[in-house]
Amino acid sequence: MKKRIVVLSGAGVSAESGLSTYRDNGGLWDGIDPYEVASAEAWERQPGKVLEFYNIQRRKLAEARPNEAHRAIAGLEKDYIVDVITQNIDNLHERAGSTHVVHLHGEATKIRPENTCNESDGFSEQYVVDCGYGEVNIGDIAPNGAQYRPHIVFFGEAVPKLERAIDLVEKADILLIIGTSLQVYPAAGLYRYARASTPIWIIDPAEIPLYDRRITHIRKKACEGMEEFVRELHQE
Ligand code: OAD
Repeated sequence: MKKRIVVLSGAGVSAESGLSTYRDNGGLWDGIDPYEVASAEAWERQPGKVLEFYNIQRRKLAEARPNEAHRAIAGLEKDYIVDVITQNIDNLHERAGSTHVVHLHGEATKIRPENTCNESDGFSEQYVVDCGYGEVNIGDIAPNGAQYRPHIVFFGEAVPKLERAIDLVEKADILLIIGTSLQVYPAAGLYRYARASTPIWIIDPAEIPLYDRRITHIRKKACEGMEEFVRELHQE
């Protein structure tokens, strides 16, 4: 029986691909107030500004390539059942070859009509459209007559894939948390659903705001940290 590794990733895993994190110095939220561009309220008040913000993120994503950390995570599938739960809206895990990726906070390359809710029951999934790396603007109207919006979980909205993520973490034999400041809930609390016997590995160059005796912290950047993690797994 293959063991099951669940990976919870954040912006730090894509930093070495040239995509900014959010809360580091010089990060996306350093210069921009997230409530102005990534909240339910901003979408109501100034949808054009929200669309423009995600148009920029899509352009950056088009230029980015998966890095060695994304590839190492995909490579784990040779020996393990691997589920990636990512807070990232980029598609670099998939482009590196990961086949089971849950996007907790949505996906930059997808849009949906604004009057469809973001349910986890599949009801709204039928309305989700791939927009690739192209621009989406005011006046881009779905077949149902509604303005298209980013398929992103805005601040102030529910996280529809949460139940699925909890279910996966509960099944983990090994939990790997990589490149997240663990500041945003409910994602930050997911590790609590891991079984008492499940070892938790964290890869992040910064200090982490958790204490749990199951945790081993590899205090390195994602690419180097993944090399160490894979070495440790082979010694098991
Ligand atoms: P943050 O920007 O909050 O945290 C990034 C983490 O990555 C920090 O802990 C850094 O120390 C770490 N880091 C930086 N460079 C790294 C590297 N090269 N390798 C590994 N780690 C590195 O990003 P998230 O925790 O992902 O929400 O943010 C969570 C959510 O907040 C995002 O999903 C986004 C944002 O608002 C939405 O888009 C809805």
